Amino acid sequence: MSDQHAILTLGDEILRLNIVNGTEGPGTIDIAPLYKQTGLFTRDPGFLSTASCNSQITYIDGDAGILRYRGYPIEQLAEHASFLEVAYLLIHGELPTRVEFAEFEHVITNHTMLKEGLFRFFEGFHYDAHPMAMMVGVVGSLSAFYHDTIDIHNPEHRIRNAYRLIAKMPTIAAAAYKHNAGELVIYPNNQVSYIGNMLRMMFATHCEPYQIDPLAEKALNLLFILHADHEQNASTSTVRLVGSSGANPFACISAGIASLWGPAHGGANEAVLNMLNQIGSVDKISEYIARAKDKDDPFRLMGFGHRVYKNYDPRAKIIRDVCYAVLEQSADANNPLFELALRLEEIALNDDYFIARNLYPNVDFYSGIIYRALNIPENMFTAMFAVARTAGWVSHWIEMLEDPEHRIGRPRQLYQGAQQRVYQPVSQRS
Ligand code: SDX
Repeated sequence: MSDQHAILTLGDEILRLNIVNGTEGPGTIDIAPLYKQTGLFTRDPGFLSTASCNSQITYIDGDAGILRYRGYPIEQLAEHASFLEVAYLLIHGELPTRVEFAEFEHVITNHTMLKEGLFRFFEGFHYDAHPMAMMVGVVGSLSAFYHDTIDIHNPEHRIRNAYRLIAKMPTIAAAAYKHNAGELVIYPNNQVSYIGNMLRMMFATHCEPYQIDPLAEKALNLLFILHADHEQNASTSTVRLVGSSGANPFACISAGIASLWGPAHGGANEAVLNMLNQIGSVDKISEYIARAKDKDDPFRLMGFGHRVYKNYDPRAKIIRDVCYAVLEQSADANNPLFELALRLEEIALNDDYFIARNLYPNVDFYSGIIYRALNIPENMFTAMFAVARTAGWVSHWIEMLEDPEHRIGRPRQLYQGAQQRVYQPVSQRS
């Protein structure tokens, strides 16, 4: 606790509020005593100026375009690490040793299967159910299969379920894809890598051997690392809030998936491709840029803007380079959508409206194009994001439960509704 403080003057009352600094980034004014001492709440719609918790997992500097997982710059992890290494780092705070990683990878690999009854859940969904709708339902129902080991106060149960979720998300996402495709599910193969299995369980069939494309595996490993965590974003905050009531980890992650689905958040990657298809051609770009600026038009440039990054999203920079490599090799090499995306980016980055509001491409602007180049259908883009983000969600869930300061999240409000009035029977209501 720093000895700095903030002075709040209310009429003739003077309040000293402690300033609490972290290891990096903005400090905080500790307003916890405010209501008791003044009878006033703070008001901060969208939590633009609110730190909801202490955390040691991810650090973002939106002005400098910095993103670090447990202190490691995203650029270094993107270049050298595997997604499972990053998942271990996010959960445990340190990169694993060779032995630790071998054990971790063995446990994850041997938890990728689902109980057979869970696979039958998918038969109940309409054939064209959105994969995210299926994932919300199936992940939430996992608690019905593991109720004997979901004591959230038991550290061993917490880690076991964190690993279970990381292990099973690719199997669940792939099963959702197969349901849409009308094909039989492909079970995970324990001889194949985590990322390789994700591709295999989606694209392999029971009719012939499936060859995992090394470039696709490399690109997906990178995309999963970039999507693994991102501080207190909407879906991670959702997981923390649901977890603060003592809900089981599967319910928490199911809530996180639901929050991520929104087009303003993880649903943006799918919305980017829909937007590019809607724009259709380069000569229509200026019309849509004008619509994006028009306050009376709900159209927004999907994949642009970010609550925190007021500079280029470092993840978008990394993805942009990989985009070329993947597209060059894929049948999509001359995909007009990529050209359209590049032109749109160029025009928006030079437009005063976007410059004045620091609206840069974010991670979702390019990720959809790569997923599409990997033959992943648009309605699966956010499901892929959810598989990757599970590593971050479970890390924050554990950190929240281990935080001695944690308590049930219960914000207050500024009430602007009716004041007290008397009930009138309907016979007297004209
Ligand atoms: C993710 O939080 C995270 O970390 C999220 C994420 C993660 O990894 O978890 O990074 C993943 O969700 C990335 C963001 C994906 N969403 C999109 O690409 C959807 C399009 N973007 C916008 O919806 C918006 O930029 C948000 C939601 C991302 C951020 O919204 P904010 O911070 O609330 O910003 P705002 O709505 O207050 O906008 C500020 C101004 C407004 O104009 P003015 O009122 O000042 O005149 O910028 C404008 C907005 O109208 N604006 C846009 C715009 N985004 C903001 N105008 C046109 N197109 C856009 N995309």
